[in-house]
Amino acid sequence: MPDKEEKEKKYTERGFLDYSDKVIELFKNPRNVGELEDADVTVQEGDPTCGDTIQISLKFDNHTIKDAKFLSFGCAANIATGSALTEMIKGKTIEEARNIDMKDIEGEVDGLPTVKMHCAALATKALKKALERALDEFEKKKSET
Ligand code: FES
Repeated sequence: MPDKEEKEKKYTERGFLDYSDKVIELFKNPRNVGELEDADVTVQEGDPTCGDTIQISLKFDNHTIKDAKFLSFGCAANIATGSALTEMIKGKTIEEARNIDMKDIEGEVDGLPTVKMHCAALATKALKKALERALDEFEKKKSET
């Protein structure tokens, strides 16, 4: 994690947002891009302030996340945080994944400019929505048996 002074520096000398090397790497080579064909849940979440959207699809083995993919309709930080998030949650139970917050995702990408923290918040919001949907589905299936 960059120190506080480093993190608060918003723009490079050339005027670009000062993203970490990890954000840039994940933006250029995002992991888990796409949609799982056999997903148990697929959700979309948007941020009305910037207009960006992220889609997350999850496949479970009981209550453990077996696979995760995302589609980004957004900015570089949307892509990087979606990529980091889908890597972070694989192999986690629903309960474990529910505890992931935007600070965890920010840490995973070695920091985000303050103006881009909402991108991590959007990824978190989509994850929570997907997990709630999954829990509902599991409850529904349980009550049908
Ligand atoms: S600016 Fe909207 S998600 Fe990044």
